[in-house]
Amino acid sequence: MQPRKIVLVVCSIVLLGIMLWLLLPPAVNSAAVVPTTADAIARGQYLVTAGGCISCHHGIERETEISGGLAVETDYGNFYAPNITPDADTGIGTWTAQDFLQALQHGRTPSGSFYYPAFPYRAYAGLSEGEVLDIAAYLMSLQPVVNVVPVPEVPWWLTRWVMAGWNRLADLQPQPGNGEEYADELTARGAHLAYHLGHCGECHTPRNSLGIPDMSREFAGAELGDEVIEPINAEALADWTVDSFDLFLLIGLKPDEEFAGGDMNEVIEHNTSKLTDADRDALAAFFTRQQHAPVAP
Ligand code: HEC
Ligand code: HEC
Repeated sequence: MQPRKIVLVVCSIVLLGIMLWLLLPPAVNSAAVVPTTADAIARGQYLVTAGGCISCHHGIERETEISGGLAVETDYGNFYAPNITPDADTGIGTWTAQDFLQALQHGRTPSGSFYYPAFPYRAYAGLSEGEVLDIAAYLMSLQPVVNVVPVPEVPWWLTRWVMAGWNRLADLQPQPGNGEEYADELTARGAHLAYHLGHCGECHTPRNSLGIPDMSREFAGAELGDEVIEPINAEALADWTVDSFDLFLLIGLKPDEEFAGGDMNEVIEHNTSKLTDADRDALAAFFTRQQHAPVAP
């Protein structure tokens, strides 16, 4: 073979490798099935509440349904939360366990394309397979609702395939928790809730110019449109105790006797106020952990 041809073949193989690396959907458990037991459905209902899914996916007319249509407005465009009731045509009625695992753990659509991160799938990526399947069990047990949701309004260059590269860039950031060891199980549970299910960092961690959370300033506060999102890192929470954090998650009252406003109200109403006491304690233990860390000798 001529040297030029060899170079061409090698380049094509390398390019193909890069394409596959970017685009091939990750492997998920092919034996997984969506459970149908009452226990799984009940666990899933709790996870959907704790995950704040309803805040984005609630119906426009009936807020108790998760039939979608609400716009998530960002600097990059408007993204409409889909209908996640089991309607076969306009919802997720035909989804398999593998579709749920791909979507929630990897941000991939059933056809292998990519979701936009207005769907906080990078936070949900830390859910266990069991948790995702329980969520699926609950969603599949709901009454199907027919509702077609608008397609995203994005600039021409922001195609779904662009997210392939975006995800790889986001992978280069330190990941939530970054190998931190927790003093006890309660704090570890709090970390799981904060990082994954509760996706607190999706709003409270500032983003870089590409919209990727800047993990070097984790929980340092951000701006969302014209809304100021306060920091919730160790420094900002210096005056908070486990009890005051608990109370805030339950009713929105801060130690300075102000009430939470804006989007945090939604989070409290739909999500943190409905957690079990143990899970609220866990979040409080996690966010105030620096205060009761053992003092170095
Ligand atoms: C911050 C808002 C937000 C939250 C919170 C959220 N989602 Fe979504 N979700 C979206 C958006 C927006 C999309 C569509 C993204 C796109 O068009 O690429 C989406 C897409 C989905 C899809 C894909 C549906 C389809 O038809 O392709 C599923 C399934 C889903 N979300 C489930 C959930 C579950 C379960 C939770 C809670 C654990 C949740 N979402 C929380 C905004 C949200
Ligand atoms: C949808 C975006 C969003 C999400 C998700 C979110 N927050 Fe917030 N949070 C806000 C906004 C906005 C404020 C400011 C509210 C205000 O102006 O009173 C806030 C305020 C707070 C405050 C008060 C800070 C202070 O000093 O006044 C705490 C504590 C807090 N959030 C904790 C959490 C925790 C814990 C989670 C995860 C379970 C979370 N937030 C998830 C948007 C969010």
